[in-house]
Amino acid sequence: MTRTTTAAVLHRVGEEMRLEELDVAAPQGREVLLAYRYAGLCRSDLHVTDGTIAGRLPMVLGHEGSAIVEAVGPLVTRVEPGDHVVCSFIPSCGTCRWCASGRQVLCDAGAATMRGHLPGESWPLSGSGGRVGAMCQLGTFSQYGVVHEGSVVRIESHIPLDVAALVGCGVPTGWGSAVNAAAVHPGEVVVVLGAGGIGMNAVQGARAAGAREVVVVEPVEFKRDAAHLFGASVSVADAAAARELVMNLTVGAGADKVIITTSTNTPEISAAAVDLVAKGGTVVITAMAAFTEPALVLPTPMITMLSKTIRGTAYGDCSPTRDIPALLALHQEKKLLLDELITRRYRLEQVNEGYRDLEAGELLRGLVEIA
Ligand SMILES: NC(=O)c1ccc[n+]([C@@H]2O[C@H](COP(=O)([O-])OP(=O)(O)OC[C@H]3O[C@@H](n4cnc5c(N)ncnc54)[C@H](O)[C@@H]3O)[C@@H](O)[C@H]2O)c1
Ligand SMILES: [Zn+2]
Ligand SMILES: [Zn+2]
Repeated sequence: MTRTTTAAVLHRVGEEMRLEELDVAAPQGREVLLAYRYAGLCRSDLHVTDGTIAGRLPMVLGHEGSAIVEAVGPLVTRVEPGDHVVCSFIPSCGTCRWCASGRQVLCDAGAATMRGHLPGESWPLSGSGGRVGAMCQLGTFSQYGVVHEGSVVRIESHIPLDVAALVGCGVPTGWGSAVNAAAVHPGEVVVVLGAGGIGMNAVQGARAAGAREVVVVEPVEFKRDAAHLFGASVSVADAAAARELVMNLTVGAGADKVIITTSTNTPEISAAAVDLVAKGGTVVITAMAAFTEPALVLPTPMITMLSKTIRGTAYGDCSPTRDIPALLALHQEKKLLLDELITRRYRLEQVNEGYRDLEAGELLRGLVEIA
């Protein structure tokens, strides 16, 4: 049975999303029909609207979300109608080489993520102009959506669906950037560049991993203040101030780990990170830069002679079926702050307003209440 949904659709780079009625096809094979409940305002959606991340348009944006399963295709085994789920912005097929070796973040099914369609070239959404894609095979800025069962992780029904939405991208990406990608060890000095939705969770991850000092660099004052709640020991407005501080804290050695979670990565930010990190230290690049512009222009002899590591990470190297339940369990035990990440709530028709607020530096995370 086909049904309709109101969804926020991006038609052209440089425009805002438009709310439209779309047709939603019934779920086929391993597909699942979802009634979305909440969706988080991650910077990556804005990167699609400004062209930093290229995607096939038109596309329903939104890739952080929680939902209730309405119906399932005939081959679905992971969930059933009525289940509460977190939507994962990278799917896990469970059987490819990467999933089989515990690296779901690299799942082959994630390769088509910005092409708009689901695995098997399925296009469940359509409007008056034809096929409409879905960001990260989800498109959570919508009342309903059809996704592959590999894109959802079932959660206990008592877990609040508002905070659950945040563990589909921002929380694991930030947390895992510190815990997995930077592999923060007890006693280390860690710098987090950019304390937004991702960076605040890198701060939480670094703190939980036992960092001695977590230094936050963030130009927006209210975010610098909020960072202390999440575990920052000190926060400063720019990398130059951080350098002086870190050199004092480490008797001139530099930070053990530097994590880049700024709005976008630039040659200046990468260079500052490499300069801040100690001999043998690691810089983790989590922030996205435009595919077309170099964001790394670096003095490689110093990286070579000082054995520095520079590495990227998608999703903080998390495996959604392991880490989404684990992060929610930490939240239940009050060892991970999630409610405090939500600065402001919006209705679906206010989604562009939410992104304007993010651009203005007013949000840690905005949350869209779908239903
Ligand atoms: N690697 C991944 O899997 C992944 C997943 C999600 C998001 N991202 C990317 O992570 C980045 C952050 O996303 P977000 O949702 O947290 O965005 P955000 O806007 O909430 O946070 C970015 C923060 O960086 C700050 N900032 C800007 N310039 C800075 C500078 N020069 N120095 C220090 N801080 C600076 C901003 O004030 C802001 O608080 C984006 O590029 C996003 O696309 C990557
Ligand atoms: Zn995201
Ligand atoms: Zn896989």
